[in-house]
Amino acid sequence: MTALRSSEPFTLPCGARAKNRFFKAAMSEALAGGDGRVPVARMERLYGAWAEGGAGVIVTGNVMIDRRAISEPGNVVLEDRSDLEGFSRWARAGRARDAQLWMQLNHPGKQAPANLNAETVAPSAIGYTAEMKAVFRTPRALTGDEIRAIIERFATSAAIAREAGFSGVQIHGAHGYLVSQFLSPKHNVREDEWGGTAENRMRFAREVYRAIRSKCGLDFVVAVKLNSADFQRGGFTEEESLAVIEALAKDGIDCVEVSGGTYEAAAMMGSEKAAPQSERSRAREAYFIEFATKARARVSVPLAVTGGFRTVDGIERALADGATDFIGLARPLACEPDWPSRVMRGESRESAARPVKTGVKFFDERALPELSFYEAQLRRIADGEAPLTSTTGAKALWEMTKYALKTAGTRRRA
Ligand SMILES: Cc1cc2nc3c(=O)[nH]c(=O)nc-3n(C[C@H](O)[C@H](O)[C@H](O)COP(=O)(O)O)c2cc1C
Repeated sequence: MTALRSSEPFTLPCGARAKNRFFKAAMSEALAGGDGRVPVARMERLYGAWAEGGAGVIVTGNVMIDRRAISEPGNVVLEDRSDLEGFSRWARAGRARDAQLWMQLNHPGKQAPANLNAETVAPSAIGYTAEMKAVFRTPRALTGDEIRAIIERFATSAAIAREAGFSGVQIHGAHGYLVSQFLSPKHNVREDEWGGTAENRMRFAREVYRAIRSKCGLDFVVAVKLNSADFQRGGFTEEESLAVIEALAKDGIDCVEVSGGTYEAAAMMGSEKAAPQSERSRAREAYFIEFATKARARVSVPLAVTGGFRTVDGIERALADGATDFIGLARPLACEPDWPSRVMRGESRESAARPVKTGVKFFDERALPELSFYEAQLRRIADGEAPLTSTTGAKALWEMTKYALKTAGTRRRA
């Protein structure tokens, strides 16, 4: 068997070493209680399974930096040191077998269900379109002082993550949440230093990065997940995204994970409506690989590409072409947490993950049954059961409805 590029180690700019190129992308676990504390035993089983499963980098599901702004029921919250022991135990489980464990930090901004938070804030007081309005209220625009306080919160949470033993953090700058709202000319129409020009719109992401770096030091991984584009008229474009990557690379970011889309247009889950893929991208599996090739031509910062990878051939080709350094995998590792090990042992050439479709266009375009199905597999692993690899459309619909009712009708994440 020829050696796999995906099994080769990689050293990040801060000096941290990933033992291979398999990069478990963030998946919101939604396992916490209403207090946002770490559900320790379930997290230990879930992250233990991923660490044992062989991935070189494991990114956690999004952790909220402010308990007044959560994005879905069951989010873990990290805003002070009161649950340090819980986070430390989570970190120990996820770092087994020498895996890198990065905590994804998030503030949802206005992409936060109205019934979960007392108030909703965002760069500008712009509401969503009619169908989104049923769940998300029109936000209040943040003041300059509030923006500075949120930046400080990202840094505080990162410093506590470091103290708890996480090897790094990833700023969630993708999928329509707060950082991504600041970047978007559609959602950010501020006239102060945080809005207007592309330079001003990227200031928030850069300041969050700088604040984390200055609190956590040069030897801690600080990464970001960014959209290649929002796939919305008047939204964040590919050219703007390339400029943000260039700026963050210059500032010293350790890794940029490329994704795309928002919950108005779910390109990150492969929604064809949001982002019709070119033949070339389709042939290469990964939804955002062409964009990564463009980024690679402009910057030398380490890249991860997430979305669509399902075969060893697709993975090896992307690495051989130099389009990316890491292979982001979410759904494949929800149904087979040990897929990286099995690939490296030559036991598997293709992931068992398959699209989940119900035939109901409204849900399928937003990937809601798909999210419910995979989130259910995270719960199974966390409870010590074997995850399932497939379902029927009817079962997926039923599961989605059951879980939506249980969680008071709120089904937004990622
Ligand atoms: C159940 C589930 C939860 C997710 N939660 C997050 C999240 O918390 N943060 C994030 O950046 N992306 C999240 N995502 C998106 C994935 O990280 C990834 O971008 C997307 O699933 C495409 O990758 P894949 O084709 O390998 O699944 C989630 C995806 C799923 C299926």
